[in-house]
Amino acid sequence: MSADQELAGRLALVTGAGRGIGEAVVHALAERGARVLATDLDTAGVEAAVAGRYDGRVTARRLDVTDAAAVEELVADVEDTLGPLDIAVNVAGILRGSPVAELTDEDWAATFAVNTGGVFHVSRAASRRMAGRGSGAIVTVASNAAGIPRTNMAAYASSKAAAVMFTKCLGLEVASSGVRCNTVSPGSTLTDMQRGMWADAGADPEAAARSVLEGDLAGYRTGIPLGRMADPSDVADAVAFLVSDRARHITMHDLYVDGGATLRA
Ligand SMILES: NC(=O)c1ccc[n+]([C@@H]2O[C@H](COP(=O)([O-])OP(=O)(O)OC[C@H]3O[C@@H](n4cnc5c(N)ncnc54)[C@H](O)[C@@H]3O)[C@@H](O)[C@H]2O)c1
Repeated sequence: MSADQELAGRLALVTGAGRGIGEAVVHALAERGARVLATDLDTAGVEAAVAGRYDGRVTARRLDVTDAAAVEELVADVEDTLGPLDIAVNVAGILRGSPVAELTDEDWAATFAVNTGGVFHVSRAASRRMAGRGSGAIVTVASNAAGIPRTNMAAYASSKAAAVMFTKCLGLEVASSGVRCNTVSPGSTLTDMQRGMWADAGADPEAAARSVLEGDLAGYRTGIPLGRMADPSDVADAVAFLVSDRARHITMHDLYVDGGATLRA
């Protein structure tokens, strides 16, 4: 089958699909023929973006991934109404940047509730059903911050590291049932999350972008060897590959899409 319709007939659930990387994942999967359930706290953006496209194969539904009961209910309802889920992609995430000394209990709990708890809730509900049927693919969008220490990002980075290890452990548990679980770890990607980080730091966007590209010795950041920031579609293409049959022998893998920023050290 040609790569352009390689996901035809598959049903995918995407979280955090309202904007940024999640929205790009929705487009990447739908362009390859999948039916997609695009979920987010706020679905207005993705609804507008897919209106009149993809022959109506994209449906939007509100979902808070921190709500375990709501996740179970939505996955059960989707399977009843749309059919068996073949693909689940965890994209929903939040970033509360702060030095540890100033990090509040609420920042810590909220970060883990979305970035780790949400991944657990969705992956548990999806993998249970996929394993029973003997096939399926799950991808968690983590972060390259999970693999390298970053100042002001302790809660975020550790929540993402937990999500990566959770996804690998799940991958091991369900491998014999034909379900593959992988992570994609982006570096700096031009989305509202990235722009929000610059705004929170009170930085001029152009200077902040330059510092991301060129590095910042005081912040122990090496810059991006490939010399550009990721576009959300760069991350979405990696996700689309990992959920496709071209990746049929890949599981428990962590695919960095960061232009070399962490030197893969
Ligand atoms: N942008 C980057 O530079 C970057 C780098 C590495 C990793 N990531 C990760 O990629 C993912 C997407 O990032 P982005 O830049 O597109 O972020 P974004 O902030 O632009 O979008 C995140 C989306 O997640 C949704 N969301 C937040 N909490 C939710 C919840 N409880 N339930 C459901 N949805 C929720 C938001 O509504 C939003 O639509 C995140 O997991 C992020 O941590 C981003």
